[in-house]
Amino acid sequence: MSFAKITGTGSYAPEKVLTNYDFEKIVDTSDEWIRTRTGIRERRIADPDVATSDMAYEASVKALEAASIDPSDIDGIILGTVTPDYLFPASSCLVQHRLEAKNAFAFDLSAGCSGFIYALQAAKAIIVSGDAENILVIGAETLSRIVDYRDRSTCILFGDGAGAAVLSKSDENGILSTYLRANGEEWDKIIQPAGGSRIPSTEESVRKGLHYLKMKGNDVFKEGVKGLEYASLEAIKKADVTTEQIALFIPHQANHRIMEAARKRLNLPPEKLFVNVDRYGNTSSASVAIALDEVVRNGRIKKDDLILFAVIGSGFTLASAVVRW
Ligand code: UT7
Repeated sequence: MSFAKITGTGSYAPEKVLTNYDFEKIVDTSDEWIRTRTGIRERRIADPDVATSDMAYEASVKALEAASIDPSDIDGIILGTVTPDYLFPASSCLVQHRLEAKNAFAFDLSAGCSGFIYALQAAKAIIVSGDAENILVIGAETLSRIVDYRDRSTCILFGDGAGAAVLSKSDENGILSTYLRANGEEWDKIIQPAGGSRIPSTEESVRKGLHYLKMKGNDVFKEGVKGLEYASLEAIKKADVTTEQIALFIPHQANHRIMEAARKRLNLPPEKLFVNVDRYGNTSSASVAIALDEVVRNGRIKKDDLILFAVIGSGFTLASAVVRW
């Protein structure tokens, strides 16, 4: 029986920083409000000529380097994103082209903020089935392109970036469990209404601002706390481990208060909660992928440590995983 294991990670964040103080000049808000309600201090914003596949490519190059693997040995690329370069072709195909990953299939996966963990599970299943040996799993977003910088309730939350991981066939079980669910009843809670087949792009759709991200923040908040706890417990149960064995909890980096509430419900000590939302804001499907690369590179996790991921996203989608490093 073969397993799948993460053999390398990478991430990329644009250089341009937008601080809370910058927002004080754009909308009616304050650094104090943003920090206390969300934990965010700053976020990264892509230059106008940079799109999702560009950041995904940069993160992927680092992940391949870390895994010491040649692009031609990659059998597949799965990219979680809600802000692809184009509606089609898939941004993963653009990454595949730039990497010259000649032997790889490529597809994008739309699961809101849960995209990276959904992609991880898909890659694991393909590897364990014997159909692939190495799959590049990416979460990448250019949310600044769909954020309405006149809407103070959403614009302060989101940032741009990308994270990637190489998942490879292994004798060691590196992905102990994943848990994926969806609750489509809540489809309208986080949405980009126009640009698809329901509301095609027209002058009217642009005038009405329907291409911007809309979110019912309060509803998402309540669902977020419950969802992160529930999904975490399911992944822990499936992995047949205990909460005490978890070395690091990496929840979706959307709001510090949501993460902290979930940590408390799980009875995890404060030092086991990883937070970087203060520096990146909410980067949707890139969020836990960037976080993973950070903890790998700064030595916060060591071999055999158990990492617990939990994410809630547009859909709603729910995703969690227990990973053995
Ligand atoms: O990626 C998917 C997951 N997404 C999330 O997890 C987001 C979840 N939701 C949240 O993080 C929070 O709901 C927000 C941070 C978006 C909002 O925080 P809140 O504590 O739920 O605030 P609220 O929406 O209840 O608004 C409270 C007040 C309102 O004013 P009134 O009606 O009480 O006068 C808002 O208009 O805060 C006002 N407000 C702001 N004030 C200053 C909303 N945004 C801002 C702002 N600056 N940026």
